[in-house]
Amino acid sequence: MTHPIIHDLENRYTSKKYDPSKKVSQEDLAVLLEALRLSASSINSQPWKFIVIESDEAKQRMHDSFANMHQFNQPHIKACSHVILFANKLSYTRDDYDVVLSKAVADKRITEEQKEAAFASFKFVELNCDENGEHKAWTKPQAYLALGNALHTLARLNIDSTTMEGIDPELLSEIFADELKGYECHVALAIGYHHPSEDYNASLPKSRKAFEDVITIL
Ligand SMILES: Cc1cc2nc3c(=O)[nH]c(=O)nc-3n(C[C@H](O)[C@H](O)[C@H](O)COP(=O)(O)O)c2cc1C
Repeated sequence: MTHPIIHDLENRYTSKKYDPSKKVSQEDLAVLLEALRLSASSINSQPWKFIVIESDEAKQRMHDSFANMHQFNQPHIKACSHVILFANKLSYTRDDYDVVLSKAVADKRITEEQKEAAFASFKFVELNCDENGEHKAWTKPQAYLALGNALHTLARLNIDSTTMEGIDPELLSEIFADELKGYECHVALAIGYHHPSEDYNASLPKSRKAFEDVITIL
């Protein structure tokens, strides 16, 4: 199939080794961050925070977060260009949704008078409240939607990336205590440009299950 979307998806892959001499331009980074901001989420809740690790100081902290586990991902942190932490909110309150609806009023999507009725959608949050009064089982998949959006955006920009669920959420919440207050992080994304000779994944063919194994058309 020849289509620009399919070309993007066939050519993107998970980088296993970065070229430390190459950095993502601020212009491309701005496109990625705007794509993150525009990501879709249930009831437009946007229960996330994207923490961009750019400075040497922040990279050192991220590097240190692999002290206890998943060291196979650690080399990416200093070799890649940036790391993005996808953080999801632990508890999602009416005040959080009020911020969303107030912005919808400011953006002229709804009127001030419609705001109270729009709060009806908050029932989705209440339905997803756990026994501790938290909503993380619901906010976490929203963050992964933004991740999927990021992967395609990066493919379009010809920027390599490594999704990393192999991180340590507990230690991250200590090392990035200020930034992650009220949030948790279960997935991070390294971005940059692959090493020209040492990224074994760069030359492997793409492999996915067959169409009929995953698609059902009724
Ligand atoms: C949610 C998620 C978590 C992943 N975690 C890791 C990881 O910790 N380290 C890693 O090298 N790759 C990780 N990957 C990459 C997958 O193994 C990879 O996307 C998959 O094998 C398909 O290969 P491709 O991305 O090269 O097409 C992760 C991918 C996803 C979507």
